Amino acid sequence: MRRAQGFGSVPHLAIRFFGSLVPVGPKAESERWARAELSEEELRLFGRMSAADRRHAIGVARRAIALAAERRLGGGSLPEGFTAAALLHDVGKIESRLGSFSRVYATLAAIVLGRRRVVAWYEPEGGPTPRSFAARTSAYVQHDRIGAALLEQAGSSRLVSAWAGDHHLPEERWSVDREVGRLLKLADGD
Ligand SMILES: [Fe+2]
Ligand SMILES: [Fe+2]
Repeated sequence: MRRAQGFGSVPHLAIRFFGSLVPVGPKAESERWARAELSEEELRLFGRMSAADRRHAIGVARRAIALAAERRLGGGSLPEGFTAAALLHDVGKIESRLGSFSRVYATLAAIVLGRRRVVAWYEPEGGPTPRSFAARTSAYVQHDRIGAALLEQAGSSRLVSAWAGDHHLPEERWSVDREVGRLLKLADGD
């Protein structure tokens, strides 16, 4: 199956696309639960995520916790930052500010043209001109790296920033513990 290197496949894209069209955020109770798991800085980042992305993040975190309990990860006590890592793995998408249709375009561009070429369209925010659509597309396809940098700046624990950076890489390139990464990946449904 054709994939942009480490960045989704067409069936995965279709599932996420239809999910993202549901214009509702997480339930208030879920949102409260998620917020209690995050530091003040992380909370600020989480609050900038779209409603659909927050809903996805909370679903991932709940599934990851259930899987960890089922498999007795760490003898029953979760590794430091486990829940926050699930909640914030896609936080880098805040830099792209792309809607559902543009995200499909971005993923297809990465699949068809190759991720490296799309990454080269990147321009940082805060330049003399507003960022182009190409630059935002580029930010979207590298939301893993951008998220890791944002979380490092926010002073998150190592697992949180490392998983944001690793979550689209093949397992052999992960910097996080394999068992932990496998659970987080499974919960993400990629
Ligand atoms: Fe992602
Ligand atoms: Fe995700």
